[in-house]
Amino acid sequence: MKGVLLHGGFGTRLRPLTHTGPKQLIRIAGKPVSQWALEDLRDSGVRSVAIILGELAPERVVEYYGDGSRLGMRLTYIYQGYPYGLAHAVYITKDYVGDEPFVVYLGDNVLVEGISNYVKKFLEETDAAAMILLTRVPDPQRFGVAEFDGEGKLRRLVEKPKHPPSNYALVGIYFFRPPYIFKVIEELKPSWRGELEITDAIQKLLDRGLRVEYAIVRGWWKDTGTPEDILEANRLLLDYKYKEKTIKGEIDDKTRIEGRVYIGRNTKIIDSVIRGPAYIGENNVIGPGVYIGPYTSIGDNCRISNVELENSVLMDNVVLETLEQRIVDSLIGSNTVIQRKEKKPRGYRLIIGENAVVEI
Ligand code: G1P
Repeated sequence: MKGVLLHGGFGTRLRPLTHTGPKQLIRIAGKPVSQWALEDLRDSGVRSVAIILGELAPERVVEYYGDGSRLGMRLTYIYQGYPYGLAHAVYITKDYVGDEPFVVYLGDNVLVEGISNYVKKFLEETDAAAMILLTRVPDPQRFGVAEFDGEGKLRRLVEKPKHPPSNYALVGIYFFRPPYIFKVIEELKPSWRGELEITDAIQKLLDRGLRVEYAIVRGWWKDTGTPEDILEANRLLLDYKYKEKTIKGEIDDKTRIEGRVYIGRNTKIIDSVIRGPAYIGENNVIGPGVYIGPYTSIGDNCRISNVELENSVLMDNVVLETLEQRIVDSLIGSNTVIQRKEKKPRGYRLIIGENAVVEI
């Protein structure tokens, strides 16, 4: 089975974090969102994957993943250019896929239980033209939604309906057998949002009487654009992916580490308390006087001293020094400096990029 990972889009709703690169490269719980997806594919036996690149800094993706050998995979890159929709992105993989069954994974989706069971099910238990994954959501109008008949058979799929026929949303992971999917995409017309929708393509498979299987999944996250969403993904991944304490860095005698905490190479922790679940990357200097509370992720090369921090995500090269109040529920982008100066000025002095949100 081959894999197709979609890595396009403009990431407008996640600015300012996406000013410098695609949203799928935002690191959550230690890895870019799309790396969680790639590793899921690899661990499910899908080692050959085409990454579909968009217009926003595609070179960053190529630079980060290279030929895939670092992850034990064979990666190929296909440029989509202008985003004509998910079905268009799938269509341009036609030559790459050939006649093999394939799985399409949207690079902004996280499925914590992984896809290996579904890969197995699609390859071994069915010869359906497609298989989709569904999950119950409280706000189905934001997704593709499934409608069932009285016997639980899939009847119809609608993209972002005003009046959803059920609470079952389409997860951004799809399984296909060529050539059917490519044939129906050729007949598609753009939707009201001007895109060739993968949801409409699968509907066309149903219209032609082809078999479309479905499975219900749990533990799904998709970026929906707010900092709260990223914090939720962070909590989900820390809970599911870090089951034990792993300490690769150096911890001094005065430090206390409690629970499931990951500490990366060359990170030093001095006279501090770290309470898991928490992820701390490489080359950080943490302490003295730092408290890191549950559900916090810290990238690489950060300097943190005399600060309390909880339920927050810090990217790389962040400096936090001597803050009086605890930092909670926060998302802090790369190269940010937050510090209290010795001689306190009579006001806040802020140098902040576009679209930042600061609550003080
Ligand atoms: C796309 C699909 C939608 C699906 C969602 C899952 O939405 O069109 O059917 O539920 O991915 O991530 P989009 O991200 O384009 O809004």
